[in-house]
Amino acid sequence: MAWKSLDDLDLGGKVVLTRVDINVPVENGAVTDATRIERIVPTVKDILAKGGKPVLLAHFDRPKGKVVPGMSLRVALPALEAALGQPVAFAEDCVGPAAAEAIAALPAGGVLLLENTRFHKGEEKNDPEFAAELAALGDVYCNDAFSAAHRAHASTEALARLLPACAGRLMQAELSALEKALTDPARPVVAVVGGAKVSTKLELLGNLIGKVDSIVIGGGMANTFLAAQGIDVGKSLCEHEMADTARAIMTKADGANCTLVLPVDVVVAAEFKAGSPNEIVAASACPPDRMILDAGPASIARIAAVFSAARTLVWNGPLGAFEIPPFNTATDAAARQAASLTRAGRLLSVAGGGDTVAALNASGSAADFSYVSTAGGAFLEWLEGKTLPGVAALDQA
Ligand code: 3PG
Ligand code: MG
Repeated sequence: MAWKSLDDLDLGGKVVLTRVDINVPVENGAVTDATRIERIVPTVKDILAKGGKPVLLAHFDRPKGKVVPGMSLRVALPALEAALGQPVAFAEDCVGPAAAEAIAALPAGGVLLLENTRFHKGEEKNDPEFAAELAALGDVYCNDAFSAAHRAHASTEALARLLPACAGRLMQAELSALEKALTDPARPVVAVVGGAKVSTKLELLGNLIGKVDSIVIGGGMANTFLAAQGIDVGKSLCEHEMADTARAIMTKADGANCTLVLPVDVVVAAEFKAGSPNEIVAASACPPDRMILDAGPASIARIAAVFSAARTLVWNGPLGAFEIPPFNTATDAAARQAASLTRAGRLLSVAGGGDTVAALNASGSAADFSYVSTAGGAFLEWLEGKTLPGVAALDQA
């Protein structure tokens, strides 16, 4: 599928309403991770280079249709100016006179950020009237917010249908990485699916089984699969009520020639606590008063063998309780191996999801992955095989 890009539209002198996702973490009034802000720079610069006027539309947090002063996008302004290396104007509202006046006052070469779109009820309702108010402000629409594309909101969906609409550079990069990894990938393809709960990853597993050659299952989810095979997992995080579902997934994987890679040994401890005394036992031998917090060395070696044989890797979710050391060991080892295979040109590696990216950053391997998505929910929904409304609404090339 090919969508129009900034190269397909005439931007000279045009006001380009550019939907970005700068929903970034903030502590004490300062942005603590500017990655999403940095990743929109190529789009803003390209619009400027083509003579367009970038007017940035974005949401921040979840104010639920009301003006919440603590959720003003003004907080992102210093980080945005630093990333772009130029001043950025700000309008107190994303529609109406405040927005229109700020756009009229924007000099050539200038960049304008509009206030939080979610201050208006019409945003999350994908309200056509609110979208028309947004559309009235500009000539062209560019969506660079892949990570918000799973939301059918006015600034991500309805607006795209009212103006010539194209994908920004980050949107293009995200889509192209995901297509390379799943649409027509080099085989074998391995997916890592980790995290606490099977119940949140059912659709993901269901879709991946038909597409990839093996799935490494990690984190709390793996315990549910072990328990479904009749193994006692002690005090481990486990969704016992999902046993039937887990068995159905195993049967489906068998029929599709997709290998599920489950832990063969595990690291167990008495408490969910950093530095908690721990030992390595067989996956079938978790003592009743212990919990599984990571995969063990034999499991790491098995994962390494699967990675070595693979040509493509898609990663969503950690393999253990990576946030409390030393239970980050399996996640780190696998991440470092994926990074080194990628560096050697032997693997295309794509990762996404908030926890995943935090884990890859912590292991120092994120920079060596072929692509690290800025998206959490949108990445997951794409892997689930869903159509993302913000992508579907763009004009096709
Ligand atoms: C995100 O941070 O995942 C996106 O910006 C979407 O935000 P939301 O989950 O509040 O819709
Ligand atoms: Mg979210």
